[in-house]
Amino acid sequence: MIILGLNAYHADAAACLVRDGELIAAAEEERFRRIKHWAGFPSEAIRYCLEEAGIGLESVDHVAINRDPKANFWPKVRYTLAKRPSPALVLSRLRNRARWGSVAEELAAAFPDGKFAGTVHEIEHHLAHLASAFLVSPFEEAAVVSVDGFGDFSSAAWGIGRGSDITVEGRVLFPHSLGIFYQALTQHLGFPHYGDEYKVMGLAPYGAPTMMEAMRRIVRLENDGGFRLDLKYFRHHAENVAYEWVGGEPKVGRLYAPALDELLGPARRPAEPLEPRHHDLARSIQAMFEEV
Ligand SMILES: [Fe+2]
Repeated sequence: MIILGLNAYHADAAACLVRDGELIAAAEEERFRRIKHWAGFPSEAIRYCLEEAGIGLESVDHVAINRDPKANFWPKVRYTLAKRPSPALVLSRLRNRARWGSVAEELAAAFPDGKFAGTVHEIEHHLAHLASAFLVSPFEEAAVVSVDGFGDFSSAAWGIGRGSDITVEGRVLFPHSLGIFYQALTQHLGFPHYGDEYKVMGLAPYGAPTMMEAMRRIVRLENDGGFRLDLKYFRHHAENVAYEWVGGEPKVGRLYAPALDELLGPARRPAEPLEPRHHDLARSIQAMFEEV
């Protein structure tokens, strides 16, 4: 059995190919396109995986993609009815959704010579994250945790893995997100590019966690192990923050609201020098992330 796994229309688009349970090839699209974090449909990574396996697209039995638009349907509906996001925000989400309507169509366009005759499986985003860790781990039974920006309306999920089963026991839903917390504060520290979080992590050891009081205002721990953001410091839930996921370097608009400048002091411009207060802020962000 040949399974092709895809991360598509998201940063770090990638493909992998598994034959009878054995990994044959895996690659990120950025390696072929030479654009860091390339987002879109990973046609070159798929081509590479097929070549490594010595097969054509027609031999693939199953394609798994790490997103399921049907997941968390009722929480999405409830949220939309309760919060009434701006029509521009709803439109932009729908456009992004429509863009990756058909994986089979994308495959047909990218590989006109190979006829895909297999089945496409849409795997809920966090279940895919949990599976990518647990199913290849040496453990028969384990607690499993996934934390990211967002995927399928969730930003975190946790549960139990047993054998080849994973039971999700809890989630954090949009607009609360530890990934968005880290990304927004990374922007505030003057690192605007997608994926710049590692710079904040690298900066953290130079400072001291002097701003934990402010951090605990931004992120609140819940008794069930989850967390919430104080949304007054963020824009992603209320405005149409530009997220570009198609055909190039991912671009993200400003995620934090002016209230964050009032809490932490003025945002650092990218060209400004890094001062001790920036080191301390980086350390505090990292410490808050670890605390959660
Ligand atoms: Fe994710």
